[in-house]
Amino acid sequence: MRIADLDTPALLIDVDVMERNLCRVAAYAREHGLRLRPHTKTHKIPALGRRQVELGAAGLTVAKVGEAEVMAASGTPDLLVAYPVLGPRKLARLMALPPEMRITVALDSLEAGRELSQAAVAAKRKVGVLAEIDVGLGRVGVPPEQGAALAQALAGLPGLEFEGIAFYPGHVKLMDEAGARAIAGLSEVLAPVLDAVRRAGLDPKVVSGGSTPALFQSHLAAGMNEIRPGTYIFNDRNTVVSRACAWDDCAATVLCTVVSTAVAGQMVVDGGSKTFSSDRLSASPEVSFGHVIEAPGAVFTRMNEEHGYIDVRNAGRKFAVGDTVRIVPNHVCTAMNLHEQVYSVRGDDVVSVWKVEGRGKLQ
Ligand SMILES: Cc1ncc(COP(=O)(O)O)c(C=O)c1O
Repeated sequence: MRIADLDTPALLIDVDVMERNLCRVAAYAREHGLRLRPHTKTHKIPALGRRQVELGAAGLTVAKVGEAEVMAASGTPDLLVAYPVLGPRKLARLMALPPEMRITVALDSLEAGRELSQAAVAAKRKVGVLAEIDVGLGRVGVPPEQGAALAQALAGLPGLEFEGIAFYPGHVKLMDEAGARAIAGLSEVLAPVLDAVRRAGLDPKVVSGGSTPALFQSHLAAGMNEIRPGTYIFNDRNTVVSRACAWDDCAATVLCTVVSTAVAGQMVVDGGSKTFSSDRLSASPEVSFGHVIEAPGAVFTRMNEEHGYIDVRNAGRKFAVGDTVRIVPNHVCTAMNLHEQVYSVRGDDVVSVWKVEGRGKLQ
């Protein structure tokens, strides 16, 4: 099948670009002695998780138990749930994951630690635990000065094995000089935490952080020994705007058809918020929703559910009803979540159809 034979809107993955992204990061992690535990919330496809493990990832990361259930099919020997798991229903499902798959949970409270511990004891299963600290995002994680106390409390809980420290440097969005300094500055945040953990007699074997924007600066954060990038497999407009990659490194595009040019200076495509998600750019206040490959000067200004409004006054070319365009989404992880299946492509050919098995796994 050719791309021209596909109905639209359709999310396309350029397999060669994806493979290059995967290999580049695997090589970077190897070169700097960093464990790679990629976050699979971006692709949500077990076969791609398997490929990440084949290329040297020590394990995979998910946010939800439902994603863990899906990703078990990747055959990964190790899975990190980088999100507190609360409540008996979720914990029972977590404990029912294949026993040969090592499970670790990152969490930031004793409440979550106790629930996990009770579930692990009841299931007669050893579960790894990472103490989550906040290094600037202000989302989850205890303040760094409380990291050692949390680690000590978790290490004392039956059924759990203390593995180390987790954090997410999502507050560093722009990889300019200040961004690189901020990542290097994590060294000073981590050192006292790791010292205090060691003074408490614990071994923080895993110090897990790492996002896609800051990926190639990860080696500057002394003490961090594991990275969990997710978006890097495909990249997206956010990654380009954060200066962490070029347009050529974006593997995912949404193929759309122009359905109207009735309003002067505008075209409407058949993909809106149900196709792209409404996520704005994370590192820029600009309100726009994607990058049109065929016309970089066009601006994707607005969306309704099924309509994408594209200002073509500076497009430098004309579009007609029935034309197709390929658009790089702002945030590929949320876009993937909206598609039942995506198409892997090479040149003008469709190579295969991948079911997005982890989409919609909210629980
Ligand atoms: C806890 C955690 N780890 C890793 C990642 C992956 O980061 P990125 O999407 O920048 O690759 C995310 C993304 O949201 C996250 O929340």
